[in-house]
Amino acid sequence: MSKRIAVLVSGGGTNLQALIDAQGRGELVNGRISAVISSTPDAFALERAKNAGIPGYVLPRRDFSDSRGYTAALTRLLRETVGADLVVMAGFMTILTEELFQAYPNAVINIHPSLIPSFCGVGCYGLHVHEKALEYGVKISGATVHFVTEECDAGPIILQKAAEVLPGDTPEVLQRRIMEQCEWKLLPQAVSLFCQDRLKVEGRAVRILDCL
Ligand code: GAR
Repeated sequence: MSKRIAVLVSGGGTNLQALIDAQGRGELVNGRISAVISSTPDAFALERAKNAGIPGYVLPRRDFSDSRGYTAALTRLLRETVGADLVVMAGFMTILTEELFQAYPNAVINIHPSLIPSFCGVGCYGLHVHEKALEYGVKISGATVHFVTEECDAGPIILQKAAEVLPGDTPEVLQRRIMEQCEWKLLPQAVSLFCQDRLKVEGRAVRILDCL
């Protein structure tokens, strides 16, 4: 049966758009984007969902005093209203607690704009990641799609892809290159592999199974 995908967003939603476009091309094999949930009411990602005819929900982080309460409400929404099989964090800028990962073991995935374990962890998100990479002087960076566990950005890695850092790069220029060359390709690929049951977690590693 086709898997129901819920995409969590907070901002512009270009990774959500990459998923919507991949779905349009028939590249999310055995999966269907069933809901987009935003932690902010004014996220442009909600427009993208609306334009694609996907139900959008707003669960504002600011309505909750702590992560635990927020996670409980989000988990209820995912299980009871959306009936999600896979939860995708696509530019979702809110830390969640263990209740979600217990409800969805190895079924929450995140895209991070660096080659983990570089430039990741608490406080390292969005443009900050690229600022740190440039400050450090690395010659390559990239993106990682990984399963989400309680420890921030530390779950088993599904896919990674590298991009060059070029002389004169600003954080914005590097961000755009990594999105175009890495993120918008990797995330649909990882989602499609999950939906085909082709990801097997073995300790810290993820084995990609061949097509049946
Ligand atoms: C993306 O670069 C994504 O990898 C990053 O935020 C951006 C969101 O863009 N996520 C993180 O840093 C999570 N730690 P988008 O809203 O256009 O997809």
